[in-house]
Amino acid sequence: MTKKIVILDFGGQYAHLIATRIRHLGVYSEIRFPADGPGDLEGVAGVILSGGPSSVYAEDRPDFDKAWLGVPVPVLGLCYGHQVIAMETGGRVHRGDIHEFGAADLRHDGKSALLKGIPSPTRVWMSHGDEVDAVGAGFSVVGTTDNCRFAAVENLSTRRFGVQFHPEVTHSTHGQILLSNFLDICGCERDWDMGGQVERLSLKLREQAKGRKVFLLVSGGVDSTVAFELLNKALGPDRVLGLHIDNGLMRADESRAVMEFMKAQGFDNLRIADASDLFLGRLAGVWEPERKRKIIGDTFLDVQAEETAKLGLNPDEWLLAQGTIYPDTIESGGTRNAATIKTHHNRVPAILELIEAGKIVEPLAELYKDEVRALGEALGIPHDLVWRHPFPGPGLGVRLLCQGPQAPAAPTESVQAASAIGATRGYSVLPLPVRSVGVQGDGRTYAQPAALRGPCDWKALESVATELTNRVRAFNRVVYHVAGSTDFVAMEAYTTRDRLDLLRSLDHETTSWLKREGFYETIWQMPVALLPVLAGGRQVVVLRPVISREAMTASFWEAPADKLGELAAKLLELGAGAVLYDCTHKPPGTIEWE
Ligand code: XMP
Repeated sequence: MTKKIVILDFGGQYAHLIATRIRHLGVYSEIRFPADGPGDLEGVAGVILSGGPSSVYAEDRPDFDKAWLGVPVPVLGLCYGHQVIAMETGGRVHRGDIHEFGAADLRHDGKSALLKGIPSPTRVWMSHGDEVDAVGAGFSVVGTTDNCRFAAVENLSTRRFGVQFHPEVTHSTHGQILLSNFLDICGCERDWDMGGQVERLSLKLREQAKGRKVFLLVSGGVDSTVAFELLNKALGPDRVLGLHIDNGLMRADESRAVMEFMKAQGFDNLRIADASDLFLGRLAGVWEPERKRKIIGDTFLDVQAEETAKLGLNPDEWLLAQGTIYPDTIESGGTRNAATIKTHHNRVPAILELIEAGKIVEPLAELYKDEVRALGEALGIPHDLVWRHPFPGPGLGVRLLCQGPQAPAAPTESVQAASAIGATRGYSVLPLPVRSVGVQGDGRTYAQPAALRGPCDWKALESVATELTNRVRAFNRVVYHVAGSTDFVAMEAYTTRDRLDLLRSLDHETTSWLKREGFYETIWQMPVALLPVLAGGRQVVVLRPVISREAMTASFWEAPADKLGELAAKLLELGAGAVLYDCTHKPPGTIEWE
């Protein structure tokens, strides 16, 4: 049994960052929740308590089952996790008078196994308000900084460790060494690498399928392509059937390219269904993002059911496969808030019922995106396909924003407050008569974007965007006006073929530009959205390029101004009335606008 490290998620993306770091060190890691208790410990070689935004004294701190501190394996607490260990093992935590954020120098005598091979002093990254000011019996201090006496502590007899800093962030110069030392303390072999996973995942798939056949929807994105290749390898093409549904919400020429690629890979077990009329018919007159998502998710299932009925597939002999990846599974049941922000297409209620009934296999459900890509390369999928940008299941459906008869209008006070913030940096503020989805304080927001006019200075735009979304509730996004008209007028608009065609041509031009200029692999993704807003009588387009590792958080990408100007001119030629550029991080904005 491969050994693994369990990471207890005390909040946000810290846990994901630790999990990825551990995997990059060659050990499988899995996220669990502190309230749930240890339960099954088979294969667990160690436990890491993550950081978190909370204070150990906060009313709303995450529940923690103390049984986690009694497990017979080493436990390491990071930041908040360090304070939890101190509190629960006879130490004390006090509310720090000085909040410590950013760089600090850790000094140590080199004797602790946790700090082995790390120079002293070493740069570490701090982010905390509360602070440990006493540790329980058996603990000793093994590292300190100027402002933090209990920066690194250990209890060798119980194998409990804690550090106040964040070794998982790259700004802690030797953080990876510390994590690697912890893996040594846990006795972990370094046996997790994606090349080696093809066999293991194939074996697991064969066990799950129990002789049955598997049906998979293949969108042509990285995840479903890798899943399809893996299923074919594990079960053989006779037991796998792929269906590509053209929902009318694909990018330019996408469906044809998917079919050609699969043929070239030697697969003839992929069918195509043109269901664009059905999808677009059901979306007619609908503008609310969550309703659109639900309709698209349900229609995928209906088309799939219709196709399987046509083929006469016996439901007892066939399972459904999905290309779900790890952050999706954790987001839906996990951070316990993501599902309320956006309903991912592979977690609609009908799918949840099938999962419950054991009718679904998700061969990539343990993997992060970078691991799916490594697996794809190990399976021999061409580089360009493996490195395609992620594309959401509902496709352009969530990038073609719609608007009912009632357009939003921010209250005058909010517009004045936003204008005052913009003016400090030389920007004028124009509220856009449309709403987009965002995530603030771990909850969904649905509010207006504010457009800024002024110099293309990304640092200034970043600071205005941050201050504006922090201070003025009416706005959850900030966009920069790159080119075109600014007389924004709301437009009643829905999902129609002509709007989709315009979006497809703008999107195609943008992707070609990214590739031509050599930016494609610098960024995570660059959604292009068409807004139900007119400028100079034509629809407004917004560009949303982001840098990210896992899509849980993201920062907007700072495009070179001259190159961006060239792209914008081309988009105006193609029919856009104005080109906007999203300069909101995630949070507070999500990556997609809906
Ligand atoms: P957000 O917009 O939530 O997106 O910041 C995070 C990442 O997820 C993608 N995304 C989806 N992927 N089905 C998917 O498979 C969906 O319904 C969906 N919605 C968003 C998005 O493109 C980004 O990479």
